[in-house]
Amino acid sequence: MLTDDDEDYAGSGPALGPEEGGLVDAVMESRLSAVVHVARYHGVELDRTELRLVPGAPLPSPADLVVWLRASGLWAQADHLKWRTLLRINTDDPVILLFNDGSAAIMTGVDLERGVVFLRDPRGTVEDVPVPVDETRIRQVWSGESILIRPERTEATAREPFTFGWIFKVVLRERGLLREIGFAGVVIAIVSVIPVLFTMVLIDQVMAHEALNTLYFVTDMILLLWLSEAVLTYTQQNCMGHLGVRLDTRLNLHLFSRLLGLPIDYYEQNPAGRTHFRLQQIWRVRGFITGNVLSLTMQIFQLLIILPILFYISSELAWYTLAASFAIALIIFAFLPSIRRFYKRVVAADAEKNTVLIETVHGIRTVKSLALEPQQRRAWDSKVAEATDLRLRAMRLGAWPGALIIPFQRFTERGVMLLGGFIMLSNPGTITLGSIVIFMILGSRVSGPFVSFVRFFQDLEEIRAAVHEIQIVLDTPPEVENIGRGLRPTFRGEISFDDLTFTYPMGKSPAIRSLTADIPAGTMMGLVGRSGSGKSTIARLLQGINRTYEGYLKIDGVELREVNLAHLRRSFGVVLQDNFLFRGTIRDNIIASRPGLGMEEVVRACRLAGAEEFIERMPEGYDTFIEEGSPNVSGGQRQRLAIARALASDPRLLILDEATSALDPESEALVNANLRRIAHGRTMVIVSHRLASLLDCDLTMVLDRGRLIDLAPHAVLLERCEIYRTLWFQQNRHLTHGAANALPAPDAAAQGN
Ligand SMILES: Nc1ncnc2c1ncn2[C@@H]1O[C@H](COP(=O)(O)OP(=O)(O)OP(=O)(O)O)[C@@H](O)[C@H]1O
Ligand SMILES: [Mg+2]
Repeated sequence: MLTDDDEDYAGSGPALGPEEGGLVDAVMESRLSAVVHVARYHGVELDRTELRLVPGAPLPSPADLVVWLRASGLWAQADHLKWRTLLRINTDDPVILLFNDGSAAIMTGVDLERGVVFLRDPRGTVEDVPVPVDETRIRQVWSGESILIRPERTEATAREPFTFGWIFKVVLRERGLLREIGFAGVVIAIVSVIPVLFTMVLIDQVMAHEALNTLYFVTDMILLLWLSEAVLTYTQQNCMGHLGVRLDTRLNLHLFSRLLGLPIDYYEQNPAGRTHFRLQQIWRVRGFITGNVLSLTMQIFQLLIILPILFYISSELAWYTLAASFAIALIIFAFLPSIRRFYKRVVAADAEKNTVLIETVHGIRTVKSLALEPQQRRAWDSKVAEATDLRLRAMRLGAWPGALIIPFQRFTERGVMLLGGFIMLSNPGTITLGSIVIFMILGSRVSGPFVSFVRFFQDLEEIRAAVHEIQIVLDTPPEVENIGRGLRPTFRGEISFDDLTFTYPMGKSPAIRSLTADIPAGTMMGLVGRSGSGKSTIARLLQGINRTYEGYLKIDGVELREVNLAHLRRSFGVVLQDNFLFRGTIRDNIIASRPGLGMEEVVRACRLAGAEEFIERMPEGYDTFIEEGSPNVSGGQRQRLAIARALASDPRLLILDEATSALDPESEALVNANLRRIAHGRTMVIVSHRLASLLDCDLTMVLDRGRLIDLAPHAVLLERCEIYRTLWFQQNRHLTHGAANALPAPDAAAQGN
């Protein structure tokens, strides 16, 4: 622990025993304050309720703290630092040192000459002067555990628009690896050419003069070179593998965080399949850069080494080889575009074929019950025929360039021998037999780079298109620019609408029109109105899903746009008509938003939601595994689990948007019977088409085409609100106007307001 007293300071901290509960609190406080202070130094206000502890742990571990900091929009890393590293740490930002006893200090500075670091007690006041501490002292209490924090540095690159250049920049971050790959490439290119030159020596000198010693030497050299080529190739492949894996990790992280950050609007306007397809393109771009670009660069290296050698040996033969290589590249260049076009059609036809297949499998019940098999088979047959035909034609076209380049290829491989023979015979002395053999070996390596070059430029077109597809997803502005931004008040639950008007981005007319109302904290409020009247829109605005409204929407007097989005959403429990359960056990699903919740809370939430009864009947109870799409729980059970999930964190505000509409009458009655208890101590907004299930509400808000028509308890609404009365009698035809008043008025409805 840290005191102002320098001497005491490095004394060992309190040993934690079970009986020293107060000390645990003090130690915990020191750890948390340190983190909160440093976060505040970077302009981020942390919310202590967002810190998740591993269950059973007395103190937050460094990892817990890092998760907390990162979730709040800071860059954070837990590290084991040596004293030397600490002294040389290259930052003006404060560093958190975690002591062996669990407490913490903030390192505010370093004096290299004196060999001390300056520490502050996180629980002290601002006026406290940082205490200088040297190595011997600090070693007694600290074994290196530290947390480094700084503002999210990647924010800048993360927010940069996605372009070709952006990916290149990401690749260039791996400068070390790239250097190694490049270096290995150059050496491999040289090493693979030298044995060929030795072959020339072998033929011209060794064979001609029967020099056995030279043969030994040349053989040794060649073996050595082959060995080094093997080692280098292995190293290079390794580096390339590393590069690929690292890039993929970077891109994966970036992609997913961008996806999570996209506003719901994006997902509503773009089908999941299209987003998925677009994102797949990023792997093509990545593959292009690490595959095509890199291999082209290597091949150009090789060419730059081989060409001078060839020209040195015989410029005449070299020119011929070059010309043949050009011819090969030209043929490929001429055919490639049409082959590409054809293959695009093949891919499109395959996709269409697949659509029929998927549609049939998904809709197999309908297909069978309506006896649609013949139609589906006909559709399938025609798509198969189309795809097969296109594939055949594409293959036929593709065979042309392959055949046309053969004479030129053969020339570079073997034809040079004939030409060389002519030169040798007509101009004796200008060229040796060894040089001709060299041309036969090296000449065939000249055309490769040319062909790659042509392919590269053709690919570039497609890659540009791919980049454009990715841009549509990744350049959509995220929901919040900075997740650390905004207030994090503790809500009581008073909601006030002040002249609230909202139009959906794609909508023509406002979904909510000048809505003004005040809902006291702790109110259980029903929300009714015809379909499309704006009920779900209000629920969305409250959760901050759409924030582009006019007027004000406040909770406890704080305008929602000022509130930190993550905090706002965590303050709400939300249950929709159709809820998604994740793969995992029932317990996992219920504590999804609050990992670390204890079993008691889980059981309490399930009991409130009326889910306890069926969970306990399941053979594995809370550990029952829920499969993808939750086929092993019924619709009603899923809904009750969703309600339990929303209640698990005991939110101040709860929204049920037609949460019980899909329930069978029995489960609905069960949930409704619990509504009062569920509502206890929180503000609740219940959207429902069935007015009878809202009888318990303190207030009911009646909406019509986005306008507030009335806000009152049931009995009052029945008296004075025409729309409400109509809806009520539509649903309760057996009641006459007179009988309605005879209906046992629920306590809440009678007392409300
Ligand atoms: N994502 C959206 N984009 C554009 N317009 C929307 C969107 N969601 C809803 N709307 C429009 O806003 C209006 C209000 O819709 P809202 O979903 O709030 O109605 P609702 O009262 O919940 O209806 P229901 O009872 O059918 O659920 C409707 O006219 C609807 O067409
Ligand atoms: Mg709705």
